[in-house]
Amino acid sequence: MLRWFDVSGRHDLPWQHPRTPYRVWLSEIMLQQTQVKTAAPYFERFVAALPTLLDLAQAPQDQVLALWSGLGYYARARNLHATAQRCMESHGGELPRDIDALTALPGIGRSTAAAILSQAWGDRHAILDGNVKRVLARYHGIAGYTGLPAVEKQLWALAESQLPQTRMADYTQAQMDLGATLCTRADPACVLCPLQDDCVARLEGRTAELPTPKPG
Ligand code: ADE
Ligand code: SF4
Repeated sequence: MLRWFDVSGRHDLPWQHPRTPYRVWLSEIMLQQTQVKTAAPYFERFVAALPTLLDLAQAPQDQVLALWSGLGYYARARNLHATAQRCMESHGGELPRDIDALTALPGIGRSTAAAILSQAWGDRHAILDGNVKRVLARYHGIAGYTGLPAVEKQLWALAESQLPQTRMADYTQAQMDLGATLCTRADPACVLCPLQDDCVARLEGRTAELPTPKPG
């Protein structure tokens, strides 16, 4: 994964330069429901207007919503604002470097918290967003709708079991990039994939069936 990432991963995303906790967090919230290409110009505009967590915490809600305008899912913007204020009140003006403290903040679930910690600090936490679920379900040949709690539990365990000892920020980004650019829903580019030799879905010709679609 890391060798593939060095050659073929995305290294020029706006939140990677510089990669601060504030910028990583903001990008992860934008990317929850928005593609990289769409989010990038919004990200640039947002950090130009509000370059720090303190600036965001002190901004009027109208300004935050205006900066979000066009991205949709406005609860994300309200949660972002509330989280910045909570960081000022309860976390010494910083995003907490702790998975439980992060997931307790508005708008930050387990995978988003793990993405923030791994990318901002290189901490060793597994992510499991939609793209990673698809890659893991195919690679390990896990059938069953990935939204089911039992299937999710299995995928989390597999995600946790594969973490490298170093380069966690790159590993997290590699997983996202692999899922977004190679292991796509409709037509995965298995011939280019670093996981192809051991991928159950590829070896068994089941990439069209996995991950199992939502029932009903
Ligand atoms: N989706 C969620 N986080 C992402 C990231 N850091 N890069 C690309 N896509 C993402
Ligand atoms: Fe996805 Fe194909 Fe790679 Fe398997 S070999 S992880 S199906 S791109």
